[in-house]
Amino acid sequence: MRRYDNGYDTDQAGELRRMVTDNIQKKKAETPAPRLHTLSILSGKGGVGKSNIAAALSFALADFGKRVVLIDADLGMANLDILCGVRNAKYNIAHLIEGSRNLNEILVHFKTSERATRLNGSVSLLPGGYGIREIADLDDFAIGRLFEALYELEMMSDYLIMDAGAGIHRGVLSFAYASEITLLITTPEPTSIRDAYGVIKSLGSAAWQNQDGPSGVMLIVNMASSSREAQEVAERIRLASMQFLGNAPMYLGYVLKDDVIERSVKNCRIFYRSDPDSNAGICVRNLAGDLLRMCEGMNVTHEDLPAKRKGMKGFLSRLSEKLFADKK
Ligand SMILES: Nc1ncnc2c1ncn2[C@@H]1O[C@H](COP(=O)(O)OP(=O)(O)OP(=O)(O)O)[C@@H](O)[C@H]1O
Ligand SMILES: [Mg+2]
Repeated sequence: MRRYDNGYDTDQAGELRRMVTDNIQKKKAETPAPRLHTLSILSGKGGVGKSNIAAALSFALADFGKRVVLIDADLGMANLDILCGVRNAKYNIAHLIEGSRNLNEILVHFKTSERATRLNGSVSLLPGGYGIREIADLDDFAIGRLFEALYELEMMSDYLIMDAGAGIHRGVLSFAYASEITLLITTPEPTSIRDAYGVIKSLGSAAWQNQDGPSGVMLIVNMASSSREAQEVAERIRLASMQFLGNAPMYLGYVLKDDVIERSVKNCRIFYRSDPDSNAGICVRNLAGDLLRMCEGMNVTHEDLPAKRKGMKGFLSRLSEKLFADKK
């Protein structure tokens, strides 16, 4: 009989799975129509700008009046807290998983721009811990505690942005599978382009399945020298994807290469907060506007995303489906 790290056997784990699933079903019935949109940010190659884009996008969405919770879901290599200038975050996602702290004790709330404050926009961070096992390796009890806590976010936020890390590990792919939208980041470098294609291939039909509207995976080209270069990069990935996989992710947009990002990283500042009108800042604001149009049908230019992918309950149902299926 397979035993989990905490000493519980598979029968007990099976029972817990049923409890988690039942709980999700119960909460489905209790919770009003969801407003929450779930976005995961990932890449094939590391170091392509995921964390910077995740943080900047969160503040840009807040400037549109959205309540954003940013989660450092790069569980093994969390560093968003440092990037966001949070010194000595007392607690992190590890405390949530072990059940020693609740969500309110862990969330770090940021000061936002005057505009965001006026429009009731906000940004909070759920910091990751260093060296936590990836989500796919957590035992069922830990997953259960994490899910319970994440449910609380449904009512307190409009957007959940997860910095999910790089590569094609099960944990990274699970977030893509579960999210309403997956933002796949690449740079114009050939290695990054190839690895981005590798993620799309690994996701298989999950990159566009269960959806009637635009693809769940959307491409962002970071560190582009021009919009034209970004478009060419996206087109290369889309063509290869269409040719070999029979479907292609949508191209959402680009962020220009901008020295302001490197400077901000060195000073532990989020470039969008210190330089919102920099070239990169304007690009991120455009991305935020396009995402809002897609997710909320404001001046709709794309079809609405199907309701079945929306909300925390949809996210957690799909995540548990994926994680528990992998453990069978
Ligand atoms: N648009 C940009 N222009 C210039 N430099 C950039 C840009 N985006 C990111 N960078 C640089 O790339 C570095 C890596 O960025 P970041 O940490 O956000 O990548 P990541 O994909 O999260 O990395 P990891 O895979 O290690 O988590 C930053 O420190 C910054 O110097
Ligand atoms: Mg990162």
